[in-house]
This record gives sequence, C-alpha cells and structure tokens, in this order.
Amino acid sequence: MKLLIIGGNGTIGKKVSAHFSKKHEIIIAGRHSGDVTVDIGDSSSIKAMFDTTGKIDAILCIAGEAKWAPFDSLTEKDFYIGLRSKMMGQVNLVRIGQDFLNPGGSFTLTTGILADYPVMMTTSAAMVNGAIHSFVKAAALELKNEHRINVVSSGLVEDAVEKYEAYFPGHNPIPMQKVINGYVKSVEGKGTGEIIRMYDNC
Ligand SMILES: NC(=O)c1ccc[n+]([C@@H]2O[C@H](COP(=O)([O-])OP(=O)(O)OC[C@H]3O[C@@H](n4cnc5c(N)ncnc54)[C@H](OP(=O)(O)O)[C@@H]3O)[C@@H](O)[C@H]2O)c1
Repeated sequence: MKLLIIGGNGTIGKKVSAHFSKKHEIIIAGRHSGDVTVDIGDSSSIKAMFDTTGKIDAILCIAGEAKWAPFDSLTEKDFYIGLRSKMMGQVNLVRIGQDFLNPGGSFTLTTGILADYPVMMTTSAAMVNGAIHSFVKAAALELKNEHRINVVSSGLVEDAVEKYEAYFPGHNPIPMQKVINGYVKSVEGKGTGEIIRMYDNC
C-alpha cells in the first residue's frame, strides 16, 4: 500500500513510519521536514500536498497542536490554535483527502488520553481530542467508496516521558510498540468509526 503519514518524523510518527516502511511505500509530510511539506492548519496547503502525492491507500495524521496553559490564562485566540491545528487540521485532511484516497482506503487520526482523562492545563487539548472522537464516529457513517476512518488515542508514550512526565503524575507510559499497534490495527484491520484507546483506565 501507499501510505501518507503527516507528522511521520515526530516522536510517535518516526516509530510508526519505520514500522510501516518494512511492508509499504511511505510518504512523510510535515511543515519543516519530510517528502512533502504541509501545514494542516491551512486547507490550501493540504490541497497542495495531495496534488503532489496523488492517490493514496492510507492517510495517517500523527500531528496537530493545541495550547497548554491554565484555563484562567487562555484567551479566545489561544483556543483557536487547537481548533485550527489539531481539530480542523484533521477534519480538513479527511474532507479534502476523500478525493485522493483510493477505494477501500483508510484515514487514521490521532488524539490522546486527555479526551477521557484530562490533566491540569489541558482544557483546549482535551476539548479538541473529544471533538475528533465524535467526528470520527459520525464521519464513518457517511464516508463513501468503502473508505474507513479511525482514531488512535494514546496515553503518554515512552519516548515522550522526559518532556511531559511532570504533567501526568502516576500515569503508566505507553510502550512504543503498543502505540504502533494502534496504527496497524487501523490501517491493516477492517474496522471503522473506532476510537483505538491505547491506555488502561486510570
Ligand atoms: N507524545 C505523546 O505522549 C502523545 C500521546 C498521545 C497523543 N499525542 C499526540 O500525537 C501527536 C504527535 O505527537 P508527538 O509527540 O509525536 O509530537 P511531535 O514529536 O511534536 O511530532 C509532531 C510531528 O508533526 C509535525 N507537525 C506538527 N504540526 C504540524 C502541522 N500543523 N502540519 C503538519 N505537520 C505538523 C511535526 O513536524 P514539523 O515540525 O516539520 O511540522 C512533527 O514531525 C500530537 O497530536 C500529540 O498531541 C502525543
């Protein structure tokens, strides 16, 4: 299969890309590195990316940002960072990408544990994760051409512990192989509309 992995050079993305590259053709996209450049916060950039890649069998997004800060300091503008990037960025990838996805192809989006178990300073990030979960369930009902859509929602991953552990007291880091398996389940399985949760109930 031909896979497009947006964020394929990131902490999670590079491990997922390395895994899929053993069996599939991989195109990596990012703002600053990769085979093609894209900013998912800009729909004209998404369209330009697909014009470059042509038809794809699986589109994975392992990218998207939201501002982390105490609720009482977040401005309306701060909330729009997450809405534009992690939420509408992923929605627009599906909206525009439908025309570039081969019949039977799949979309795999990325959220995280915050949708179910938020921690301090994540009102924006938790909110957009929850929105993407609802979007995936609803979009799965309407996608055409046997397109499938799922979202991988991981806990704090092992490779990011150093950076984020202070925000996640008592959380069990998720092994990278477990996270990779979430993407494999979505891309190589047959499920659709699934929120693939990669963490224990906490
Ligand atoms: N790390 C964790 O423990 C964890 C757990 C659960 C969920 N998540 C979520 O998983 C996703 C990836 O996390 P990560 O830790 O791997 O992040 P990361 O190390 O910062 O990597 C993100 C990747 O996405 C690309 N990217 C960022 N913004 C982009 C944009 N607007 N358009 C296109 N590409 C963009 C970056 O490349 P460029 O800089 O070149 O654009 C980078 O390659 C995030 O949405 C994160 O919230 C992370």
